[in-house]
Amino acid sequence: MSNKVLISPSILSADFAALGQAVRDIDAAGADMIHIDVMDGHYVPNLTIGPAVVKALRPHTNKPFDVHLMISPTDILVPMFIEAGADYITVHPDAGPHLHRTLQSIRAAGVKAGIVLNPGAPVEQVDPVIDLCDQIMIMSVNPGFGGQSFIDSQIEKIAAVRAKIDAHVAKGGQDILLQVDGGVNPVTAKACIAAGATALVAGSAVFKGAGTYAENISALRGDDASEPAKGKAA
Ligand code: DX5
Ligand code: ZN
Repeated sequence: MSNKVLISPSILSADFAALGQAVRDIDAAGADMIHIDVMDGHYVPNLTIGPAVVKALRPHTNKPFDVHLMISPTDILVPMFIEAGADYITVHPDAGPHLHRTLQSIRAAGVKAGIVLNPGAPVEQVDPVIDLCDQIMIMSVNPGFGGQSFIDSQIEKIAAVRAKIDAHVAKGGQDILLQVDGGVNPVTAKACIAAGATALVAGSAVFKGAGTYAENISALRGDDASEPAKGKAA
């Protein structure tokens, strides 16, 4: 993996009537992964994408599908998302019922597994399952909706998880992607990267940002040469 931060645009902010096109467009624009927000109207107060849509999108890109499950209970639906073509599956520890078993079952299927810490969750949630994580995601908004403002207090949590991952790797443990989700824009991205994030999710900043998708993605990476254009240059 390169040192460049990975960008995972969230299709939650795309046109739901043209999701295939959106996925092809962000792929061509340089997205590293495709973030898919799965919400059940129960764990979070919104209802979005199910496994049938994930499966329908699969032929539109070879980029990894980064599937964020905001569903409770989680375990019973995980196999459907694996079957649909997920490459990464992240779950909320409190969505249950059996976090350790959930992560084991995701990895047993050859899919990368991860946990998501809500803004109100303690960083210690990482400890009992760090061995089973390929990815740890810090929510910098409360889950459920795109377009919310970044919660600054989560920067400290990113740094705390960075330290846990570094200590884990120093002991011979596997490396773990440290991702941030919610309110990520070129300004907050910089703070996330400085705190140790290696991957960023962005919905609004990619799909509704000032420039083209490629410019918006580059701006999140902090590429100086590609500040978002004022207009919509092709
Ligand atoms: C919120 C989702 C996020 C959301 C991010 O529950 O998990 O992935 O789409 O959207 P922005 O980047 O607009 O905050
Ligand atoms: Zn998400």
